[in-house]
Formats: sequence, C-alpha cells, structure tokens
Amino acid sequence: MVDLTNGSALVTGGAGGFGSATARRLAQRGAKVVIADVHEERGQALAKELGNGSVFVHTDILDENSIANAVATAVGLAPLRAAVVVHGGPPAPGSSGPQRTVNREGKRLPLSQFAHTVNIYLNSAFAVTSQAAEAMAANEPQASNQRGVVINTASIAGYEGQPGQAAYSAAKGGIIGMTLTIARDLAPLGIRAVAIAPGTFLTLAYSSRMTDEQAQAHWGPMVPNPKRMGDPDEYALLAAQIVENDFLNGTTIRLDGAQRF
Ligand SMILES: NC(=O)c1ccc[n+]([C@@H]2O[C@H](COP(=O)([O-])OP(=O)(O)OC[C@H]3O[C@@H](n4cnc5c(N)ncnc54)[C@H](O)[C@@H]3O)[C@@H](O)[C@H]2O)c1
Repeated sequence: MVDLTNGSALVTGGAGGFGSATARRLAQRGAKVVIADVHEERGQALAKELGNGSVFVHTDILDENSIANAVATAVGLAPLRAAVVVHGGPPAPGSSGPQRTVNREGKRLPLSQFAHTVNIYLNSAFAVTSQAAEAMAANEPQASNQRGVVINTASIAGYEGQPGQAAYSAAKGGIIGMTLTIARDLAPLGIRAVAIAPGTFLTLAYSSRMTDEQAQAHWGPMVPNPKRMGDPDEYALLAAQIVENDFLNGTTIRLDGAQRF
C-alpha cells in the first residue's frame, strides 16, 4: 500500500467533478493535495474546505512548465506519493460539437483539431505521469519497495467511441495502451501505473450544460445497473483503493455500471 500519511498527492483537474471528489478522498487518507487546475475559484474553495495544508496551484495542462510547477509544489509540501491525472481542457480552436472524421457538410476534421484533443487528453497525461514519476523516484521507498502510484483517466470511449469521437477515442485508447508499458518502465522504481476508464458520470462536464435531473433522465437509462449516471465519489473511491492496493498495477479498470455502446 502507498501510505499517504505525511505525503502529498497531485490531482490535475483537481477542481473538477472527478478531481474534487478524489482530492477529498486522498486528503482523508492523510495527503496534502495539490489541486492543479485552471479554475481559480473552485480550486481555492476546495483547498480551504480540505484545510489540511492542501493548496490550489493554477496549472495549465497544456504547458509543461506549469505542470512542473505543480509537481514542485507537491514535493515542497511532502514526498509526492500519488498523482491522479483527471483534467479536462478547452475545445479545439474553431471546433464546436462532434469531431466527425468527415462531417455532414463533407468536410474532414482538420488535423489541428485532432491533435489538440490528443494533446489535452493523452500528451498532457504522459507529461504529468513522467514528471510525477521522476519526482517519486527520489522518494524513500515505503513497505515492499513502493515509492508512489500514478493513476490516469481513460474512458469507455477508448474502447467503444461514438461518432464524432475519433480524436477523443484515440487519446483515451492511448491511455489504455500506455498504462502497462509505463507500469513496466516504472516497476524497477517501485512506482505503479493504473488507469480508470469511467462510463457516464455526473461531473461538471454535464452539470454545467443542464440540470442534474435532466442529465440523469438522458444518460442514466443507458447504464444497465445501477440505472443512473455515476457519482464522482465512486471514481474517487476506486482511486483511493488503487493507492492502497499494491497488486493493482499496469491495468485499466472499467468503472461503468456494465455500460457498453
Ligand atoms: N464525466 C464523464 O462521464 C467522463 C467519462 C469518461 C472520462 N472522463 C474523463 O474524466 C476527466 C475529467 O473530467 P470530468 O468529467 O471530471 O470533467 P469536469 O469538467 O468536472 O472537470 C475537468 C476539470 O479540468 C479543468 N481544466 C480544464 N482545462 C484545463 C487546463 N488547461 N489545465 C488544467 N485543468 C483544466 C477544469 O477547470 C475542470 O475543473 C477527463 O479526462 C474526461 O475525459 C469523464
């Protein structure tokens, strides 16, 4: 188990739906959490709520130096023991709605828009993973030679993408594909790598567009059992379990109420 007592944790997208639930769970387990996000107001409010020395660090996931600043802040608080990569990002410039390979007007998806989405969800995830692991490598090992754990966020769209999700599916499929390799790379350092592939969860990504009731009425029935959208705390509980369970490594865990498209 990675013991978070006297340690720090980094959560990218920490002010978001999954991120804030995860920050709460990791703080309960003793971590000082770096809430790395662009949303100042939600991030500061959460740091205050946690009240255990956790801090908000304004972090733009598209900027490697900004990620480095968040990692350095975590290391400055306490040895970095867990990094949870669960940020969103801005839509591609000039894009609105689904990113179909060829849209209804017969126009192909500009490569720049494809690349933007992959940058947000895959390249930045590798940037956080590699920077966090580099910092963890300098930690004193805990029991059974464990130094830390990195959790990335895939999606069921990495397995079964919907029309308009080619770029998003490619990025999330990339997370699924790289997880075992990263776990193997980091094994000699006593650092684990695991990914979570969520189904449909009621996070800000939905609740900022419609009421919770509307979102549940639309998306809930698509989940076989339980017949509702996921609660972000269900993601956070799994993230906490991954931190605690040393034998979870190199795999992507679906968390989707048996949803398949
Ligand atoms: N909600 C779902 O159903 C679902 C399903 C599968 C996967 N996911 C994945 O979960 C992750 C988080 O999504 P969420 O549902 O919690 O969304 P969310 O909107 O609740 O949270 C995303 C957070 O990312 C932050 N963010 C945006 N741009 C950023 C940037 N440039 N740098 C740093 N932070 C930035 C936002 O401010 C926000 O706090 C994403 O990778 C998403 O693909 C979500």
